[in-house]
Amino acid sequence: MNLLETNLFNKKIKNPFIIASGPCGNFEELSEIIDINNLGGITTKTITKEPKIGNKAPRIVNLNDGLLNSIGLENKGIDYFIENEIKRIEDYNTLKIISIGGYNEYDFEYMIEKIDDYDIDFYELNLSCPNVNKGGATLLNDKKLLSKVIERSCNSTDKPIFLKFGYESNLEELVKIGVYNGASGVTLINTLKGMKIDINTGKPILKMKTGGVSGSFIKPMAVHCIYKIREKFPYLPIIGMGGVFNHEDAIELAMAGANLIGVGTAMMMDPEIVNKIIKNTAFYLSSKNKNFEDIVSKSHERTDNYVL
Ligand SMILES: Cc1cc2nc3c(=O)[nH]c(=O)nc-3n(C[C@H](O)[C@H](O)[C@H](O)COP(=O)(O)O)c2cc1C
Repeated sequence: MNLLETNLFNKKIKNPFIIASGPCGNFEELSEIIDINNLGGITTKTITKEPKIGNKAPRIVNLNDGLLNSIGLENKGIDYFIENEIKRIEDYNTLKIISIGGYNEYDFEYMIEKIDDYDIDFYELNLSCPNVNKGGATLLNDKKLLSKVIERSCNSTDKPIFLKFGYESNLEELVKIGVYNGASGVTLINTLKGMKIDINTGKPILKMKTGGVSGSFIKPMAVHCIYKIREKFPYLPIIGMGGVFNHEDAIELAMAGANLIGVGTAMMMDPEIVNKIIKNTAFYLSSKNKNFEDIVSKSHERTDNYVL
């Protein structure tokens, strides 16, 4: 019996572990190291309508327990993706999540229409990248535009659409706008804005000065976001991510309310880590005589008996 098997939108998923958008590119290198088909799913790096060269270097700093990055959504654009990458991605026997980013409703609609007939499962709208000057940030600051983007995207496909947010102060309101306009789920969380200064020069290390913090530092924020959205939206599918390095981190996010668990930064440090997390989560579940779905949202149970 597969204790890790889970279900989303009547689709069986072999385990809840997916690769978060970005750190593993579009898996070409990763597929030489691990068997992608053992994963519950993969998320592409965010694709935009036009190619983006990204931000100038230095654009990544190692923080030991995490990273500070200002990649700036570097990618070769939707046409390149369709011509060169989608066929390989279609061949994986796992959940395929396509992350897209844009500036307005037309960008998102254009990309979804181009890609919708391929064998992919969900879309993830990246509404929260902290490393682009236009796009993510302005979308979240302009609720009318945000509503239009979500509504138009949802009307362009029958496939589920997840909305990816960061640690936003008005997260509940944003999720409500998303659900109202047809989104099927949310992905929580993207990186948090941060900075590092070189104490020998006194200057910020990143060319862009600020970047997105990922890794262990942001796990408590991820747990908080997932918990508060699960509390307000008991049945909304949530993909949780932020600082998952081992099975304990993953179980924590699941108990807060995550139905699927994304692994990002940890994969850059050890590409085989996701296999260890999968194996150790299965051990944990079997030692507790539970399956994965039994522990999802466990922290919300209104009971004195919290013992698993
Ligand atoms: C190098 C790097 C690139 C990323 N690129 C993207 C991206 O293209 N789209 C996106 O939605 N999130 C991107 N992210 C954010 C991750 O998907 C994830 O939300 C975040 O890093 C938190 O998870 P983690 O702590 O496991 O890395 C990126 C993160 C890193 C570290």
